Amino acid sequence: MRKSRILGVGHYVPSKVVTNDDLAEMMDTNHEWIVERTGIQSRHWFTPGEDTVTSMAKEATVMALDRAGLEAHEIDFIVFATITPDYFIPGNGVLLQRELNFGNIGALDIRNACSGFIYGLSVADQFIKTGMYNKVLVVGAEIQSSALDKSDEGRSSSVIFADGAGAVVLGAAEADHQGILSTHLHSEGAYAEELYCKDPGSSRETRLSPDLINSGSFFLKMNGNAVFKHAVVRFMEVIEEALSHNQLDKSAIDLLVPHQANLRISQYIQQKLELPDDKVFNNIMDKGNTTAATIPIALSEAWEQGKIKEGDLVCLAAFGSGFTWASALLYW
Ligand code: COA
Repeated sequence: MRKSRILGVGHYVPSKVVTNDDLAEMMDTNHEWIVERTGIQSRHWFTPGEDTVTSMAKEATVMALDRAGLEAHEIDFIVFATITPDYFIPGNGVLLQRELNFGNIGALDIRNACSGFIYGLSVADQFIKTGMYNKVLVVGAEIQSSALDKSDEGRSSSVIFADGAGAVVLGAAEADHQGILSTHLHSEGAYAEELYCKDPGSSRETRLSPDLINSGSFFLKMNGNAVFKHAVVRFMEVIEEALSHNQLDKSAIDLLVPHQANLRISQYIQQKLELPDDKVFNNIMDKGNTTAATIPIALSEAWEQGKIKEGDLVCLAAFGSGFTWASALLYW
């Protein structure tokens, strides 16, 4: 069966940089606390009226297409991972479709939060493996900063999340030692409310009301301790699942690109896998956690910095709201 491979990768982050000191002006927090618990020094937040999820996704896509040597009209399908779409309806895939010279191709939205990019990659991989499509665009893009409670009450999550977009173009692999080996997807809905944004939900008489707005139920809510505890276990499990599925040892990994949840989580996984620093790529320090966008942004930066070479074994892994978790193992 044919395999798919990443032909090009791109990213975009909004120009506005928000430092930990900037956050300390909005809420009771400080640079030292944030760096010690999360590793984050600064992050990018969108500018209303300037950036949208679609505009950032467009920039990332243009870069990915350029690096793949392709034009928009050569893409057969769009998979768009986001939990922060510009509109409630329709999804972000179609909004991106109208921005570039795509044909009237299908556009699918994926709502699997921090695991969304790997879920999207897996979907795209199946389309290419079966031969249904030859070139699929997979995007992860988010504006999280407008869903954050920037008061003292919301400080444990508002210091973590940020905005940005990443994109990859997937096409058929040409050589044996190339392309996606496998993807592994999981969920456990029992923990849905440990990291969630309740409103505007549809299961109420009126979706939006002054009471609802006053209750703050449209802010992102996170039980940080529960997320941390589950994340460290599931990240390891799903990476080991990918390695054992392909009969590979952890020492075969050339580059691990974990979802940038929290630097402490990435460091824990690195230590468990006994990987040296140059085999793990982190950029949460100046990008924050951009949910579905972290992995493609990190892949794009790693590629720019020459940290991924042709033939390298790259491992992607993610964990997030749902809970959902996922991994992908691929030869670049
Ligand atoms: N600045 C300063 N103090 C803060 C703070 C902030 N931004 N956020 C919370 N605190 C305080 C708490 O109020 C608490 O104070 P208290 O002891 O007086 O009650 C104290 O710090 C410890 O809070 P706690 O929530 O136990 O901290 P923690 O060590 O668990 O760290 C997280 C909080 C969120 C950093 C941590 O739980 C975590 O990293 N979780 C995983 C989050 C994650 O990866 N999310 C992304 C998933 S995709």
